[in-house]
Amino acid sequence: MDHLDGRIRVVRGDITSLTVDAIVNAANRTLLGGGGVDGAIHRAAGPGLLDECRGIGGCPTGEARLTGGYRLPARHVIHTVGPVWHGGARGEPDQLAACYRNSLALAAKQGLRTVAFPAISTGVYGYPIEDATRIAVREVAAFLAGHPGIEQVTFVCFSDRDAAVYERECSRA
Ligand code: APR
Repeated sequence: MDHLDGRIRVVRGDITSLTVDAIVNAANRTLLGGGGVDGAIHRAAGPGLLDECRGIGGCPTGEARLTGGYRLPARHVIHTVGPVWHGGARGEPDQLAACYRNSLALAAKQGLRTVAFPAISTGVYGYPIEDATRIAVREVAAFLAGHPGIEQVTFVCFSDRDAAVYERECSRA
């Protein structure tokens, strides 16, 4: 479903299949791969992605790093490291917001126009999906308002439940 004049859309599926300028990876601070969407992206991209990530030397929580897409249909991967959920009183909301802002800032700086996000931190890192989605939609809508160069952001949900939460939050934006 489309929102914000079609500049935000919500889809249900596998982010590794999207042909966009960049897909965002919910990585860990080592950038050396893992499970979840991180594992899926590295499996689909092939070994070249891990080689490039090794050269970056890690990424602090809340920040983002750009690499090539290798065997993915996406041209680039933007790796960002979400916060681990510890109840919400240890700066997690601000760190998660920074993931979305910094990923989009990197895309804008690179002149990328279409970006796809997974639901960062809502899997292994345990961030409650409703709270995380509210932050994701708020930050992306705010960034798009100030950056016409980013044509479209896609939220890729891996379950119908998550997609329903995103649709509800986008309808409120
Ligand atoms: N496409 C889209 N979304 C996916 C995919 C996929 N192929 N696989 C998983 N997801 C979804 C999950 O269902 C969840 O909603 O991505 C969201 C983020 O979950 P995780 O991948 O577990 O990421 P996160 O919670 O940020 O934890 C990051 O997990 O994989 C490790 O190396 C990673 O240590 C890091 C941690």
